Amino acid sequence: MTDSRPSYEESYWMATADTTGYPTLGDDTEADVVVVGGGIAGLSAAWELVKAGHSVALLEADRVAAGVSGYTTAKVSSLHTLVYDRIRRIRNEADAELYACSQQGAVEHVAEIVDELDIACDLERVPAYTYTTDPAAVPSLQAEARAAASAGLPATYVTDSELPFEISGAVRVEEQAQFHPREYLLALAEDIGRSGGRIFEGTRVTGLAEGSPCRVTTESGHSVAARDVVVATHYPVFDRALLFARLAPRRELVVAAPLDADRAPAGMYITQGEGKRSIRSAPLDDGRRLLIVTGESFTPGAGEDVGERFRRLDAWMHERFPVGATAYRWAAQDADSADGVPFVGLLHPGARHSYVATGFGGWGMSGGVMAGSLLARLIGDETPPWADLYDPRRLWSTVREAATVLRQQGDVAQHFIGGRLRTRHVASVADIEPGTGAVVRVDGRRCAVHRSADGSVQAVSARCTHLGCLVAFNEAETTWECPCHGSRFDVDGSVLQGPAVHPLAPVDRADD
Ligand SMILES: Cc1cc2nc3c(=O)[nH]c(=O)nc-3n(C[C@H](O)[C@H](O)[C@H](O)COP(=O)(O)OP(=O)(O)OC[C@H]3O[C@@H](n4cnc5c(N)ncnc54)[C@H](O)[C@@H]3O)c2cc1C
Ligand code: FES
Repeated sequence: MTDSRPSYEESYWMATADTTGYPTLGDDTEADVVVVGGGIAGLSAAWELVKAGHSVALLEADRVAAGVSGYTTAKVSSLHTLVYDRIRRIRNEADAELYACSQQGAVEHVAEIVDELDIACDLERVPAYTYTTDPAAVPSLQAEARAAASAGLPATYVTDSELPFEISGAVRVEEQAQFHPREYLLALAEDIGRSGGRIFEGTRVTGLAEGSPCRVTTESGHSVAARDVVVATHYPVFDRALLFARLAPRRELVVAAPLDADRAPAGMYITQGEGKRSIRSAPLDDGRRLLIVTGESFTPGAGEDVGERFRRLDAWMHERFPVGATAYRWAAQDADSADGVPFVGLLHPGARHSYVATGFGGWGMSGGVMAGSLLARLIGDETPPWADLYDPRRLWSTVREAATVLRQQGDVAQHFIGGRLRTRHVASVADIEPGTGAVVRVDGRRCAVHRSADGSVQAVSARCTHLGCLVAFNEAETTWECPCHGSRFDVDGSVLQGPAVHPLAPVDRADD
């Protein structure tokens, strides 16, 4: 990878699938259900709901399948690193079984939908592995293999692998899947339209009034009245249950390079513990495969050197695999729930008709599909056996969860006052080099100031419009990021990713 590459690029999935052109919402309207957010969770929910006979309007702030779901690694798997042993320990064996059944059910459901709609999305059924190169981690993998098998998955503990380096051991689960997520989701969107559902893009929702009916309002002032509302905006943009306090954003980097098909691993791999690496490959048109490596997790907005992290991940891939030049690199973030189980169900304790799907913890491909069918069933007055497991209203299940939440909120408080930010705070706008950004006090107010390569300066308020933490500059991606709950903003202040729904406030004057 050379330094002349653009600092931020589209994912392979974005670069190799059609763009969409659904209309914006230009009028007030009504539906049985309004789905907010067109990622895998929202599209899956909308698809299940139209198939069950509901009239559905889906409102997407940007373009469908272009949020995290367009920048994922796209393993569709029920093996989620070490989830089964954790659920068994912090909850119980029955919950581990329910998790396995619902997540493996989602893997099979994807295969059925691909078959039913004849979707050309390169779906491949392959085994999934959680592996380690650290002998000290072997007992935890053995425990996971036992827990996953007793939860009902075809799981075994193995010591050999096809990877071109030694491993100490791995959990292997058969009959998992990988696919091209955008091809799958765009086909789902098309089928929603064919089945009478309506999709609106470029339609950011800024307000929710719960009632009979509920009403969501958009940035442009139009509204949709609906009996039920599904909030599938990744980090929830409406949050009376303070779910944001039980979620932590985690940003990850991805690099991808072609290699000969006979040198590509057939399975999907992920490490456990620190220094995560995730590996899969995807077919290319010229008969080779694209090796996709994900890793380098960090808290967005925490002042990390993201360029250095990209270089580290790229070097790791090139040192281990016989790949050609890096062809793609991208970044995205997911949200971890404090107990490691997604929040899918009613939005808050008083909610009757508003639902949420979030906290997929890096496993929202199976999780989003599971969420779509769970929410459609709940809205249809059916309660699957795993509804309680995922219920966002569940009490903090462990002391560990409470501790995680308190630690997270402590971090949030410090980011609010700016004490722990490693972002650059400089004395004056003149100190900001071209191509960089920093927080500067202008007339007593903290401003996020970016100087572009041509020297021009753009200044916006440095206070995140979600809950007021100070943003930090991500130089590799040219974005302002909030360390508290992961909102991301363009240098002109516009929202790239929630939970914020409003842009960073403009600043009139930030002279050199
Ligand atoms: C690098 C990386 C690799 C991953 N790899 C895997 C993997 O291999 N397997 C796996 O299972 N999971 C993986 N995940 C996790 C998975 O990609 C996510 O959990 C999943 O894509 C989340 O889907 P979503 O629908 O919740 O969010 P999104 O896809 O982000 O969809 C939310 C949508 O809501 C829209 N929106 C936001 N605010 C508003 C608003 N106010 N009004 C209207 N619309 C709004 C957004 O524009 C967006 O389109 C990975 C995650 C990352 C970061
Ligand atoms: S994302 Fe919550 S304060 Fe910024």
